[in-house]
Amino acid sequence: MTRFDTISALRQHLHSLPSSRSIGLVPTMGALHEGHMTLIQSAKAAGDLVVASIFVNPVQFNNPDDLARYPRTLDDDCRLLEAAGCDVVFAPSVTEMYPEPPTMRLNFGELETVMEGAFRPGHFNGVGIVVAKLFNIVQPHRAYFGQKDLQQVAVIRQLIRDLSFPVELVRSPTVRETDGLAMSSRNRNLTAEERVLAPALYEALTLAHDLLSEGQSTAQAKAAVTGFFSNNPNFRLEYVEIANADTLQPAGEVLAPGQTAICLAVHLGTVRLIDNVVF
Ligand code: PAJ
Repeated sequence: MTRFDTISALRQHLHSLPSSRSIGLVPTMGALHEGHMTLIQSAKAAGDLVVASIFVNPVQFNNPDDLARYPRTLDDDCRLLEAAGCDVVFAPSVTEMYPEPPTMRLNFGELETVMEGAFRPGHFNGVGIVVAKLFNIVQPHRAYFGQKDLQQVAVIRQLIRDLSFPVELVRSPTVRETDGLAMSSRNRNLTAEERVLAPALYEALTLAHDLLSEGQSTAQAKAAVTGFFSNNPNFRLEYVEIANADTLQPAGEVLAPGQTAICLAVHLGTVRLIDNVVF
C-alpha cells in the first residue's frame, strides 16, 4: 500500500498506472471500522485498484465541538487498510485540500430541506465540495458509499448527475455491531454507559419496521418511535422520518419493497447518532 499526503504526488502515481486499471475510491474521515472495511472489500471484489482517502473535512462540520472531538487514528487506519488489501491511501492535510477556505456553495435542493439537510445546515455543501475535489483528484471509475448515511448517498448521486462526473456510485449495506448498533466513528466518543444504551436506535428502527410490516401507517410507526424515546430520558430524538429511500422526501405511505427508509437522528449524551433501515 502506498500512502500520499499531497495531491500532486497522488496524481503522478495514478497517472503512472496502466490506463486499463479501474479505480475504486472509498472516501472516509478515518477512525476506521468494519463498516468502512466492507466498502474496501466491495471495491476489491469489483477488481478495482482501491484508493481510500482519510480526511476529516472541516467544511462539512457545522458544529466546532464535533470537529474538535472527531476521532483521529491515522496510523491504526493505515494498518487496517493495508491488511484489507487497499492499494493507495490519500491522507492530505487541511491546507493541502484547502489552501484557502472554499467560497463556492453547493445546494442540493430538496435534499437540503429534510433530515440531515435541515438539521445540519451547510453539511451537504461541505460533503459535496470535498467529494467533488476527490473525484477530480483521483478520477475514479467507481465510488463506494455506505447506506448508513443514506441521505449522503442521495447527495452524491445528485452531485454525479448534476456535474456529469463519469463515476459509478456503489451503495453498500450498513454494518452493525452484534447488538444492532450501526458502526460509526462517533461510537468511540460514547461513554461505557452510553454504549450500553446505544442499541436503542436500532431497536426503535426495528419497532417501526415491524409496525409497517403489520400494516400500520407511516404516521403510526413514527409515533411509536417518538414514544419509545420520550420514555427514555437518556436520549433526545432529533427527528424520525419515513421517506423515499432514493429522494429522502417524506413518504405518507409505504412504497414499493426496498423503497421506504425509516431514518432517525438521536442525541445520546454529547454524541449525535444517525441510523436508518430500508423497508
Ligand atoms: P465517514 O463517516 O468516515 O464514512 C465513510 C464511508 O463509510 C461513508 O460512505 C459511510 O456511509 C460509510 N460507513 C460508515 N459507517 C458505516 C457502516 N456502519 N456500514 C456501512 N458503511 C458505513 O461519510 C463520510 O465519512 C464523509 O462524509 C465523506 C463521504 C468521507 C466526505 O467527507
